[in-house]
Amino acid sequence: MTVLIKNAHIVGASENYMGDIFIEGEQITAIGKSLNVQADQIINATGLIAFPGAIDPHVHLEMPFMGTFSSDNYETGTRAALHGGTTTVIDFILQKQGHSLNEAFNEWSSRATGNTLGDYSFHMAVTDFNENTRKEIAELIEKKGITSFKMFMAYKGALMIDDKQMVGLMQEVKQHGGMVTVHATNGDMIDFLVDQFKQQGKTAPLYHYLSQPEVTEAEASERFAAISGYTGCPGYIVHMTCEGALNAVRNNNRDNQKVFAETCIQYLLLDASLYEKDFEGAKWVMSPPLREKKDQEALWAGINQGLIQVVATDHCPFTWEQKQLGKNDFSKIPNGHPAIEHRVELLYSEGVRKGKITLNKFVEVLSTNPAKIFGMFPKKGCLAPGADADIVLFDPQHEHTISATSHHMQTDYSGYEGWKLTGKCKTVLLRGKVVIENGKCLVEKGYGQYIKRNTVSQII
Ligand code: URP
Ligand code: ZN
Ligand code: ZN
Repeated sequence: MTVLIKNAHIVGASENYMGDIFIEGEQITAIGKSLNVQADQIINATGLIAFPGAIDPHVHLEMPFMGTFSSDNYETGTRAALHGGTTTVIDFILQKQGHSLNEAFNEWSSRATGNTLGDYSFHMAVTDFNENTRKEIAELIEKKGITSFKMFMAYKGALMIDDKQMVGLMQEVKQHGGMVTVHATNGDMIDFLVDQFKQQGKTAPLYHYLSQPEVTEAEASERFAAISGYTGCPGYIVHMTCEGALNAVRNNNRDNQKVFAETCIQYLLLDASLYEKDFEGAKWVMSPPLREKKDQEALWAGINQGLIQVVATDHCPFTWEQKQLGKNDFSKIPNGHPAIEHRVELLYSEGVRKGKITLNKFVEVLSTNPAKIFGMFPKKGCLAPGADADIVLFDPQHEHTISATSHHMQTDYSGYEGWKLTGKCKTVLLRGKVVIENGKCLVEKGYGQYIKRNTVSQII
C-alpha cells in the first residue's frame, strides 16, 4: 500500500515548509516538493499542517491505584489518544512491593497485549528496590526494551521508595545505560500536612492542594537532581508544576549536569482557583496539584528556555463515581484526571495561537523530544525518510468545543468542559494507515504495537 500526501505545510522540531510526503507500507520513503509518484491513496492536505504523531510519555491506563483502577483501559485510552493526534503512549508498570519486576511486567503486558489501537511502550516503576530487583534491571533494558525506571518520592506505603533505594537503583540503571524518571515531591512532608488537616476536620479537595505546597516539590526536585548528579544516572522529572521545581533544574544545569523535565498540559492552562469549588474541585485532584498563575508563567518560560523538554498529560482518569471515594476525606479521592485526548489541540489553541510557543516548539515538546529522550528517535518523532509514517494532518482553522458528551475518554466529565478551541486533528496516520478521519476511528484494538525502546537518549 502506498499513500501520497499532497501540498502539506510540513512542520518538524526545526522544519517548516510546503511539500508532499510519500509513504510505502508503514514508513515514509520520500518527502519533497511536487513529488512525481503514483500512489494507491492520495490525500489532499491543502490548508493542513502535517507534523509527526504526538507521543505521550506519561499515561496511566487501567492502573490499579488508590483502591480502584483508572477508568480508561488500553483500548479506550489509545483510541482517545489517536483522536487527539497521539499515536504512541508510554504507560507505567507498577511493581507491587514484595513482588518482582518481572511479575509486574507480565501482569501489565497481559492487560495491554492485543488491546491497544495505538503504539505503546512501558516505563517500569520500581517500588521495592532490593538485591533481587537489582538483578532484573539489565534484562528489562536489554531484552524487553524498557529503558526508563520510575521512582516515586511520595505515596508512602504504596509506591514511595526512600533515598537509599533511589541511590541504589540509579547506580544500577546508569550501569546499563538506562534513565530514571521521578515523581518528585516530599512524601513525608505531604503525609504530615494531610494528617494535620484531617485532625482539624478539614476534608474538602482544597486541602489536597494545601497539603502539597510548592516547597514539597521544589525540595524533592533539588534532592533528586543532586542524587542524579552524584550517580551520573540520566534523570527526568515528570509532571513538573512550579517555579521552585524549575529552579531546581536550573541550578542543576549550572553544575554542568542535565536533568530533563516534563510538564503537563493542565499545569500550563489550569490553576488552583479550581479547588475553591467545594467537592467539584475533586475533578482536578491530582498530584502534584494545580498551582498559581506565576507558576504557569514560569513553566511557559521554562519551555522556551529549553529547561522543560516535554509537555505530557499524566492521563489518569477516574469517573465522577470513583471520585466520590473521597467525598468525606480528600486523601481518598483517586488522584488523576483525563487529558490524553486534548493535549495536542489545547497546546495549539492556547500555546501556538496565543503566541506563547512557536509551531516548531509545539512539535518538539509533543513528539520529537519524547522520542529522543525515551529512545524511539528517529523511528518516531520526526517526518523523514525511514521514519514510521505516524502523521497528524491538522486543520488550524477548525473551531470546536470540548465536552464530556463528545470526547472519547471513559470519563463522564472533562476538566475543560466548554472550552472553545481553534485547531483540530483532522486525519491521523499510524504506520502508514489512516486511523482517524474527520472524527471517525478506522482501526480496531490490536493495531497498536509494543515498542521496544533504545537506551540512547539523545542529548537535547
Ligand atoms: O495524580 C496523579 N498524578 N495520578 C497518577 C499517579 C502519578 O502520580 O503520576
Ligand atoms: Zn506522579
Ligand atoms: Zn503519573
